[in-house]
Amino acid sequence: MNATAVHTIETAEDANKKALHSDMISPRFYTTDFAAMDRINIEPVRAEWDKMMAEYEGDNNHDHFQRDEAFADEVASGMASLSPEMRQEFMDFLVSSLTSEFSGCVLYNEIRKNVSNPDIKQLMTYLARDESRHAGFINLSLRDFNLGIDLGNLKRTKKYTFFKPKYIYYATYLSEKIGYARYITIFRQLEKHPEKRFHPIFRWFELWCNDEFRHGESFALIMRANPHLLRGANKLWIRFFLLAVYATMYVRDHTRPMLHEAMGLDSSEYDYQVFRITTAITQQVFPLALDTDNPQFRRGLERLFEVSKAMEKAKARGGLVGKVQQGICAVQAATTFARLFFMPVIQQDLSPQVRMEPAW
Ligand SMILES: [Fe+2]
Ligand SMILES: [Fe+2]
Repeated sequence: MNATAVHTIETAEDANKKALHSDMISPRFYTTDFAAMDRINIEPVRAEWDKMMAEYEGDNNHDHFQRDEAFADEVASGMASLSPEMRQEFMDFLVSSLTSEFSGCVLYNEIRKNVSNPDIKQLMTYLARDESRHAGFINLSLRDFNLGIDLGNLKRTKKYTFFKPKYIYYATYLSEKIGYARYITIFRQLEKHPEKRFHPIFRWFELWCNDEFRHGESFALIMRANPHLLRGANKLWIRFFLLAVYATMYVRDHTRPMLHEAMGLDSSEYDYQVFRITTAITQQVFPLALDTDNPQFRRGLERLFEVSKAMEKAKARGGLVGKVQQGICAVQAATTFARLFFMPVIQQDLSPQVRMEPAW
């Protein structure tokens, strides 16, 4: 199976290709330096760490990822109300969500297998357990439409990106917290407007995102226990990852605006709300935040989205002209990203206690 771009998901083969495909905005699989990860010391945060481990051990979501009796009927009636385009966006949403849940599962499992540090090994066991439940639960919904993803094949054949451990901490921390912010924002919206809940999976999001919140807490503790990760030149890396994660999310969400409209959400407002929640949470660990409500920042993200659309057109066009256009788009995207990167950031003092409650 090759990893060419898939624009519509009609068959299981399309869904599997989509999950396998790599581009700037699709979820990736990661690998890292396990020996370096093995040397992490979490002693400075031992008390908070042990409390968190007890929560994982308690496994309060053990029975959450089971379907209830109403599920099948809600799928049938909800999906009947969707236009074919909206249905496509929803399938795309399910495939990319599954890919990113499974990406966590694969990474955490690999770390678990390759380290002997008991704290890290134990943590990774719990994280992989949760992510495998999440991925499995989404896959059930894809299977309802005969679009199930072959996770074994995906694990074997998807391209892996190598990240140093510190990049894994920044990127994974952010994707867990942003995952929480995204799921809770959708859940709160549909709680207010149950008539817009076109698929039952959204009913699971509240307890589900508490898992993601806790996963993020683990990486916050690891970074706070190793404060050099949060100082000096590393602040530039934090800035870079914040921007990369935010920009990717913005572009990806804006390529499927109907999905948010169906829930009564505007993609931009939704994204900025998610950024605000994420920024508030990151006070537990990052000494700086991006000024996402600044109009100049917003113009930059909009520009990245425009460039990404032009890039897609150039790819579809092909030939020499298409190649030249793609090159121009790449330069434009890099320049816009650089401009966003050098915008002033908001300095923030770290909270004395690391742990936070998922209170949104
Ligand atoms: Fe997850
Ligand atoms: Fe997670």
